Amino acid sequence: MQTNYVLKRGALEGFDHMTRIAATEGAVLVKNNNQALPLAQGSKIALFGRMQFDYVKSGTGSGGSVNVTHVINIYDALAAEADITLYDTLTQTYHTWLEEHPFNEGTGAWASEPWSQEEMTISDELAQQAAAFTDTAVVVIGRSAGEDHDNAAEQGGFFLSDIETAMLKTIRSHFKAVIVLLNTGHFIDMSWEAEADAILYLWQGGMEGGAAAADLVMGRVCPSGKLSATAALEISDYPSDPFFGDRLGNDYGEDIYVGYRYFETFAAERVRYPFGYGLSYTTFALETQSACERGDQITVRVNVTNIGSHAGREVAQLYFSAPQGKLGRPVKELCAYEKTKLLAPGEAQVLELSFPVASMAAYDDTGATGHCSCFVLEEGMYTVFIGTSCRDVEACYTLTLDDLRVVSQLRAHLTPNKAFDRMRPTKTADAFTVSWERTPERVPSAYDTQGVPAALPITGDLGIKLWDVKEGRHSLDAFIAQIPEEELLPICFGEGMNSPKVTPGTGAAFGGVTDELQAYGIPLACCSDGPSGIRMDDGQTATGMPNGMLLACSWDRTLQEELYMLEGKELQGNRIDVLLGPGINIQRHPLCGRNFEYFSEDPYLCGTLAAAQQRGMAKFGTTGTIKHFVCNNQESNRQNCDARVSERALREIYLRPFEIAVRDGSTHCVMTAYSPINGVWTASNRELVRDILRGEWGFEGIVMTDWWARMNTMPGDEPTREKVHAMVRATNDLYMVCDDAKKAVTTSDLSDMRQSGAVTLGEVQFCARNICRFLLQTAVLYRDNQKPFICQGEALVWSDGGATPFTTDPALLDKNAPALTLADLLTIELFEAIPAALSGKIKKEERTSALRISGRNAYAVYALDVKEAGQYEVTLVYASELDKLAQISCQVIIGDEMKAVLSLGGTNGKLGSSRQRIELPSGKVYFKLRFPSGGYIVKTLDISKA
Ligand code: BGC
Repeated sequence: MQTNYVLKRGALEGFDHMTRIAATEGAVLVKNNNQALPLAQGSKIALFGRMQFDYVKSGTGSGGSVNVTHVINIYDALAAEADITLYDTLTQTYHTWLEEHPFNEGTGAWASEPWSQEEMTISDELAQQAAAFTDTAVVVIGRSAGEDHDNAAEQGGFFLSDIETAMLKTIRSHFKAVIVLLNTGHFIDMSWEAEADAILYLWQGGMEGGAAAADLVMGRVCPSGKLSATAALEISDYPSDPFFGDRLGNDYGEDIYVGYRYFETFAAERVRYPFGYGLSYTTFALETQSACERGDQITVRVNVTNIGSHAGREVAQLYFSAPQGKLGRPVKELCAYEKTKLLAPGEAQVLELSFPVASMAAYDDTGATGHCSCFVLEEGMYTVFIGTSCRDVEACYTLTLDDLRVVSQLRAHLTPNKAFDRMRPTKTADAFTVSWERTPERVPSAYDTQGVPAALPITGDLGIKLWDVKEGRHSLDAFIAQIPEEELLPICFGEGMNSPKVTPGTGAAFGGVTDELQAYGIPLACCSDGPSGIRMDDGQTATGMPNGMLLACSWDRTLQEELYMLEGKELQGNRIDVLLGPGINIQRHPLCGRNFEYFSEDPYLCGTLAAAQQRGMAKFGTTGTIKHFVCNNQESNRQNCDARVSERALREIYLRPFEIAVRDGSTHCVMTAYSPINGVWTASNRELVRDILRGEWGFEGIVMTDWWARMNTMPGDEPTREKVHAMVRATNDLYMVCDDAKKAVTTSDLSDMRQSGAVTLGEVQFCARNICRFLLQTAVLYRDNQKPFICQGEALVWSDGGATPFTTDPALLDKNAPALTLADLLTIELFEAIPAALSGKIKKEERTSALRISGRNAYAVYALDVKEAGQYEVTLVYASELDKLAQISCQVIIGDEMKAVLSLGGTNGKLGSSRQRIELPSGKVYFKLRFPSGGYIVKTLDISKA
């Protein structure tokens, strides 16, 4: 019998437990001398570091703006453990100090929270007292991370602050065992590692992160995470370091020698913890059982036995080493991995690891092999290694090719418009040294009109609805052909953020954005950030997920699939069709601000894990958007910083994760990046989107821009937000985002450029087809047509009663002085009898005063006497020093119900406004504005009858 899944808004019940499991699986134990971890039963612990109380669940910005019901911190989790005792006096000392040093939210502006918090100085005396209680110290150090800023090579950023360094030194001098727990988005400097006996990278584990930390520290779960990137001795050891940070452009001079590909080839001695490395509480023995080539696959079977005394899991990793040939190759590249199940002491499992021989090919972008623009396997010996990190491996198979093999013949795309020097290995005696060669340079060519889709002759409305296409009665082409051009053009725009037409507080509405489009049965779909849980700026809660770095360090595809199946279910409950994540850019440099969201320095690990997440979401009829396509590897000046990168590095490293996730089959949405590659902004980059993504990889889904992205037509052409015709020509279907899609057709250049013929009707119809093809799979199409949407064999039923009421904390109400202008006072008056808690600053004389919004969750409250019920326009005029991309919003709450979300956005100091229509009941109401983040000034609020 078929049962129904009843889906409610908000967080999915029980999902938090799954995130806790995930948060344990991705933590990496990098040091554990004298078995300092796990803590023995009955241990007494002195718990240091203020971050024990301020667990960082994720970085900030679009990837971190998830409202959660709770965040479990490390102190609470460890204090609840029955088998250990914490040193209370120390806790008390922290509590007293924290009263004077509360959590610093910075200005509260979007994505600008400080990356570190002030630490309490640990005096010798305090350490001594604590050491009299116990000889075991646990120290928690934490860092945030975020969008739009890179980390800095300074104290409190990548480096410990002076107080943190002194704290570790003092603790080291008093305690026998020092255990450091790192609650960070990505690596921090580790030059202090000698001060610790055990170091556990917890990363940012989501809302249950503290509980996961306790599971690991107590030994209920054995660490099994492995590093998804290399921890070098110093920042300057990373090969991208000389290029990173330049605001105008980065030469990707290290080329394909990213992360361990560089270190293993040229500078093994500069590595602190290698890629793939991670300790366990137990020990595993790996024994290769067989290795062979079957068909076009190499398969290695390895027996993994737990020879220690603690149940645990191990990751078997396969690398290959290709002959240097004419192209030059890294000495190791990951080609397969598998994680065991939980193995009890003495238990063994045989893992089978396979990969296609063709995946060992390299791309020839110079013609050095005689096969320009081909993936080739040069002749010579290929060695396959098995092991438990890129360093700890042994050879298990060799394959010798007598002749070069061409694996695929492609066309040159994305060639640098100006050549630069790139790295390559030169063999000297037993080692490789870095030498440099020029990259190829693009020959300027005219706009190529080949492959421009032919226009479908417009038939006019034949009464075909999108559901008819779904049911096979008509083709998608026949459906699209009905729509007159002026009605079709708005489909190229998503509306947002916080469109009132879809789930409140989300990123965008797209598809049926106008009445005309809806009349054809095109549903209005909804998308929202991602990736660390669902972002709903109306204050609705969702499950806070572990960050990308953590998930990648689990090396566990099954886990990703299960976790993201639940994410898919939660998305469905909130009537969101698309998650704006995962972010799968390569971690090219340790200071990139969004490394916390991204997965790895290795394209194969990154792509396979992303594909698993997509398969998971697909099980509940939703999908993720892989982003940011491509080379969004630096946040400083991210809109302008040109990624000057060779075609080879693109194809072997930066495009690869996207290619894997697309070819896997369950990726239906891709988001282009803000930045240009070799002079052409990605949102309008035809070679990137049309030729590679669609042409070579066969992608038929939606490509969308990043929010308020800019576009240009060729290197040297000034990018603007209006050049939407260039986006359409690139087959990037959707411009994200605008206030009103119909208006955007003319305020952008789309309408004019259609008239001039610079973009064809066929090109517009092509984008519309991609969008509609995608919508055919969405739950919203079924809902609109009152048809059951079946997932996992059961029907999804949306419950309207699921939304949690929006209650405001009365303590917050009095915090701010509201600025108010009621332009139309005929129908509304200020409510005379204002209760003391609310009255504070509501005075008519204050109408022209401005309100500075700083900190988080500030409120402005107006007591209104509404004479006439009905539709009102709420207009907020404001100014912010922040850039347009800053995602500021403001919620309109009537009583305890969230009625609308105003999307603001930075205005670079100029005046801006945002408007929404709301329904007001008659009588006396408290009209509240809630400001989730600060960093701007509200000049006026106007409420007038619509
Ligand atoms: C980010 C994207 C995000 C979008 C919508 C942009 O600032 O770069 O990753 O999905 O905003 O919030």
